[in-house]
Amino acid sequence: MNTIKSVIRGCGAYLPEKIVTNQELAKTVDTSHEWIVERTGIHQRHVAAEGEFTSDLATKAALMALDHAGLGPNDIDLIIVATASPDFTFPSTATRVQHKIGNTKGLAYDVAGVCAGFLVGLDVADSYLRIGKVKRALVIGAEKVSSLLDMEDRTTCVLFGDGAGAVVLEAIEAKDNPDDRGIMGVHVQSDGRFCDILYADGGPSSNGKVGKIKMSGQEVFKHAVTKLSEAAEFALTTHNVKSEEIDWFIPHQANLRIIEGMMRKLNLPPEKVIITLDRHANTSAASIPLALSEAVHSGKVKPGDLILHEAIGGGLVWGSALLRF
Ligand code: ACO
Repeated sequence: MNTIKSVIRGCGAYLPEKIVTNQELAKTVDTSHEWIVERTGIHQRHVAAEGEFTSDLATKAALMALDHAGLGPNDIDLIIVATASPDFTFPSTATRVQHKIGNTKGLAYDVAGVCAGFLVGLDVADSYLRIGKVKRALVIGAEKVSSLLDMEDRTTCVLFGDGAGAVVLEAIEAKDNPDDRGIMGVHVQSDGRFCDILYADGGPSSNGKVGKIKMSGQEVFKHAVTKLSEAAEFALTTHNVKSEEIDWFIPHQANLRIIEGMMRKLNLPPEKVIITLDRHANTSAASIPLALSEAVHSGKVKPGDLILHEAIGGGLVWGSALLRF
């Protein structure tokens, strides 16, 4: 029986300086603060500067996570960056982050699970750690989604923001883990039949462009509610946890209505739910680690707390994770 668990030893986050409010957006896009708040819960978003790359956001979040963990860059064996907005087609954004944080060993690569990307990265890193292949991993969700927005499409451009979040995972043997902290399970899946309801219409092998986000909002919304409920239910049943035992629900931050739907299904009171989308908007793969880091550094989430994450994004890719912080 495997006795190793992946424990979160540190977390960090970074948001670009520039904030764009709904009111500011409404000056150039045919929308209003009231519409955006009523339909999504978003009030503002952070937007990266022109010369600020996804790897820059990721690096700042990673350095904060390393500092929080009390570790140096070469204590890390594996660096995974979850992103849909890489600096370049290649090399991976992760290798650029590896260089920027000063890590000269180990392996760095990207995963592409879009809004569910952080959970995909967590799943991969947790698997490496539990089989003893590596001792410590950095899992980063980082996005400059603003580079994928068509600022004339009001149905998408009001929804997203830029940012990054990171966690340092460490493999701990059961004998050194008396409080049984760590990742209990990450459960992610995809169904490519839905790849055309949320996508960016560009790429090296298709039209040679970067592309802009295209989304059938209502379709995505419909899938989000059912698939996320199933994913949360699966995690709770698999690990024999009752929803009332959850200390914190930290979901992907796409739409307040989706989150409230999940809260009703799981019977979770608002005081157990971390909401950042009012201030961050949807930062895709960055939203969960950003929200987690904020909750940890503000003192809300404490060691030993039971956390449920869930996310869905383009692909469709979706899933959940249950962990004891
Ligand atoms: N401002 C003002 N009016 C708008 C805007 C806007 N920004 N966008 C759309 N409208 C209009 C539409 O044109 C439509 O007008 P009409 O009735 O005259 O045709 C009306 O508002 C209603 O549009 P709907 O698309 O029906 O609005 P809905 O209530 O579905 O909300 C939204 C749209 C917010 C996109 C919603 O469908 C949603 O959240 N979907 C989930 C998708 C999501 O969150 N995607 C993020 C990425 S994936 C992920 O992270 C899960």
